[in-house]
Amino acid sequence: MATTERVAQTTLQELAKRHLWMHFTRMGAYADAEVPVIVRGEGCHVWDEQGRRYFDGLSALFCCNLGHGRADLAQAGADQAKELDFYSTWSYAHPRAIELAAKIASLTPGDLNRVFFTSGGGEAVESALKLARQYHKLTGNPNKTKVIAREVAYHGTPMGALSATGITPLRVPFEPLTPGGCHVPNTNVYRLPAGVSPSSLAEAVRERILFEGPETVAAVIMEPVQNAGGTFTPPDGYFRRIREICDEFDVLMISDEVICSWGRIGEWFGCQRYDYVPDLITTAKGLTGAVAPMGALIASDRVAAPFMEGEATFLHGFTFAGHPVAAAVALAAIDAYEREGILDRVRQNEGKLRAMLESLQDLPIVGDVRGAGYFQSIELVRDRDEKTTFDDDEAEELLRGFLDEELHRAGLICRADDRGDPVVQLSPPLIAGPEDFEEIEGKLRPVLAEAGRRMHVG
Ligand SMILES: Cc1ncc(COP(=O)(O)O)c(C=O)c1O
Repeated sequence: MATTERVAQTTLQELAKRHLWMHFTRMGAYADAEVPVIVRGEGCHVWDEQGRRYFDGLSALFCCNLGHGRADLAQAGADQAKELDFYSTWSYAHPRAIELAAKIASLTPGDLNRVFFTSGGGEAVESALKLARQYHKLTGNPNKTKVIAREVAYHGTPMGALSATGITPLRVPFEPLTPGGCHVPNTNVYRLPAGVSPSSLAEAVRERILFEGPETVAAVIMEPVQNAGGTFTPPDGYFRRIREICDEFDVLMISDEVICSWGRIGEWFGCQRYDYVPDLITTAKGLTGAVAPMGALIASDRVAAPFMEGEATFLHGFTFAGHPVAAAVALAAIDAYEREGILDRVRQNEGKLRAMLESLQDLPIVGDVRGAGYFQSIELVRDRDEKTTFDDDEAEELLRGFLDEELHRAGLICRADDRGDPVVQLSPPLIAGPEDFEEIEGKLRPVLAEAGRRMHVG
């Protein structure tokens, strides 16, 4: 390695440790350890500054659905920056935002035709919650302000979105939160309490609405497949029932699809897979193939209608939302999703991905395999027959003390997570196929086998 390269690397490490504040990161852990610096990506792989190659089994946080290193998307952004670098969507419009809004509307189900851009997912959720409140005020229900979400669900970090997020350790440091966040059980059917049937899970939402007082509840927010806790899929008929309950009480149904749209579970929007039509969809991440940051709140004509007449205004916005460069990249990304048949590819291959993960069940530490599309998790257990999980100290030792480092060393980026019970999450780029699943297995199997031995499982 040339001296100048080595100096540049040393400098990056030093500067990162001194100045960069990484998100959701125990910064102290890097006092004596190397900061992982990713410098390049191509297809399903990324490389760090030492030249080590990793399989990106998490699509860079569920974002790079079309794979890394997309010259076509980069070109679309560069061309747009030359033509019109920036104009905001505050009182003005520009061609790419208009075209993208129309394109998105053509892909959504039902009458979800009105698109309000944001710069990311948390802003989309925040916008949905604010829209729900103002909608009810405009339609004569000023006390409808509360939001019902599910336990362990992640809906982002802005203060409003955080009140919907159902992960206690993420909430406590910032209390008091925006009032109105209420939580119901999620659809973790692997750990359903004795005597509770999967079909009763939706009824918990109805009971909570009645408990709070229907005249105080503005919205229900749910992901089609809940990420945090480990890709909880809905039981049959769950969302149909949630839709009925929302209609019964004039509560808006928000489908938080920051992850579950753009092919992640084999459809443009996750709600299409489970055959429901929400009032609002929140999306981000894969919308631009992650080549530019962008999110969106998509509203039904019914919900948008009161804002489209007279002096009514949705009093809300973000300077960079709908940025022309991001919009141009998103149009190119949607074109790529269509041209490359990405949704079909996910539908055709998801069984193979799932079979590969289920083949790991010969390891006693692998308890459950669940998910949909290219959005899967394996739950790690102490005893598979008893479904016994690890206590907090053991989970810490298993995840932070072993899996994070060993998976990284094996060259696989995925997420070992214990926001619920310990899981390993896998969400490869949607361009991945069976040969890539083999590569994932080759890296994952030995690490899980060793984890089981270290934790004395089986
Ligand atoms: C379901 C869901 N909602 C909201 C968010 C927040 O999105 P962002 O990190 O872009 O603000 C995320 C992020 O992962 C998410 O998964």
